[in-house]
Amino acid sequence: MFIAGNWKMNGTVAQARVLAQALVNGLPDGAPATAIFPPAIHLAAVHDIIKDSPIFMGGQDCSSAENGAHTGDLSVAMLADIGARGVIVGHSERRTDHGESNEAILGKVKAAQSAGLGAVLCVGETLDERQSGRAETVVQSQLAACLPTTFDSGSVVIAYEPVWAIGTGMVATVQDISAMHSMIRQWLQAHRPEIADTFILYGGSVKAANAADVFGADEVGGALVGGASLKSDDFLGIIAAAMKA
Ligand code: PGA
Repeated sequence: MFIAGNWKMNGTVAQARVLAQALVNGLPDGAPATAIFPPAIHLAAVHDIIKDSPIFMGGQDCSSAENGAHTGDLSVAMLADIGARGVIVGHSERRTDHGESNEAILGKVKAAQSAGLGAVLCVGETLDERQSGRAETVVQSQLAACLPTTFDSGSVVIAYEPVWAIGTGMVATVQDISAMHSMIRQWLQAHRPEIADTFILYGGSVKAANAADVFGADEVGGALVGGASLKSDDFLGIIAAAMKA
């Protein structure tokens, strides 16, 4: 299992330190792989706190470019330099807020690979796409367009995040999660066999109270958690549920 906390655009550096320290102190022995993705401006402070712990840290986005004239962007080398070991790519909020295309996201996955960072590639359909019966085709086309055909040093994890379930309190049913995750596993086996065994995380309103159900669905290898990763007790509750799954 792999449990990842996406802190999004929240908090001050002081709050980031307190949250990171609470996770370091509270992480139980035998916990699954645990990662946190703080705002970029808090990465250095958080790294100081988690560096001797099993928790690892990543960025919420990266540039596909190596360096140069890209105002406001962060390169994978910069992330690695500050102690990040992974990066979220293709989150639906970046697709929506910044118009990120599948092609741009493919560039980011490749950049992460080149720096030896683990990429957490987010895929997922909108409510409209689900209601019109296109959820699986949309996710398949995102996988096909955003995943390189060969893989080198960095790992790639897939996060299935139905857009309509993110931050809304709506969670996909266990049946829907099982169906989509099984489809993703089969798709990977058929089209990207090098990463066919990778974790497939579910994301979208995962909380301590519903985590056991989510982890009971087929082919769920963990969770990408937004809102509930901002409070240590909530996030540790999800980790505890993963340990029982
Ligand atoms: P949420 O966010 O848990 O707040 O729904 C999940 C995500 O966007 O990764």
